[in-house]
Amino acid sequence: MAIKIRPLHDLFGAEIVGINVAKPLSSKEFFPISEALEAHSVLLFRGPVLLDEQQIALSEHFGHVQVAFKANQTGGSMFSRQSNINFETDEIFPPDHHRITFLKANMLWHSDSSYMDCGSLCSILAAREVPPAGGDTEVVSTRVAWEELPEGLKSRIENLSVVHSLSYARDKMDMSILTDEARAAAPPVKHPLVQVNPKNGKKSMLIGAHAALIDGWSEEDSRKLLDELVERASPPQNVYSHGWQDGDVIVWDNRCVLHRATPFESDKYRRHLERTTITDRARL
Ligand code: OGA
Ligand code: MN
Repeated sequence: MAIKIRPLHDLFGAEIVGINVAKPLSSKEFFPISEALEAHSVLLFRGPVLLDEQQIALSEHFGHVQVAFKANQTGGSMFSRQSNINFETDEIFPPDHHRITFLKANMLWHSDSSYMDCGSLCSILAAREVPPAGGDTEVVSTRVAWEELPEGLKSRIENLSVVHSLSYARDKMDMSILTDEARAAAPPVKHPLVQVNPKNGKKSMLIGAHAALIDGWSEEDSRKLLDELVERASPPQNVYSHGWQDGDVIVWDNRCVLHRATPFESDKYRRHLERTTITDRARL
């Protein structure tokens, strides 16, 4: 059966209907999915809750699966766990636990792994258990944002380079959250501000919470421009807000979207999603 595409938002995003991503996919079945990601930047699949091995099998079609950063609850595995549940006790973490602080860092607009040299092609976030209210994930397109920028601003910033740093983003939330070891494992990296999609030539911006500085600029000037660009990218009418159901799987293109978590009653409801983060094989 041919897949059907339903828009998620006027500006970007598509729900892919007519394929069960829990099942093994042939390369022929995967091809239109990969094309849809290049075109629409965010894909939603609805179906049964994925098992870990099913999520890995799906992820490997997109590219190389990154090993999660050590600071995560599942650090060292292929999963970045987004959850308020302590898996050793199956209980909800108390509000002052550092895991809850980590989850709050996700509430700033960001692109996953932009602080890594290889960056990330896309993330796959799959809902295992979701709260009855709140905890939506919001997404905006920096491809749309680029298209909406005034021409003068585009030409002023087109060739800039941005320094991305994990500790910069985390320090904004809480100075004590990263160990020295974690800091050393993620030194700052540089990426072109403007990313060009190799398949369709569309431009986007790699910005968000890990973007610390414009290369060669003062912190003050950098902050002004970087904050302005995030603001221009995220007016309410440009935001796709995803209300999760168990089994939902979202793939977002980290080269051209920003996303963020939103609050929910995390002392009352359980929320558990698993993320795999993919590197483009061409960048390895
Ligand atoms: C992530 C992330 C947001 C959320 O998984 O990378 O930022 O809503 N998640 O859990
Ligand atoms: Mn994220």
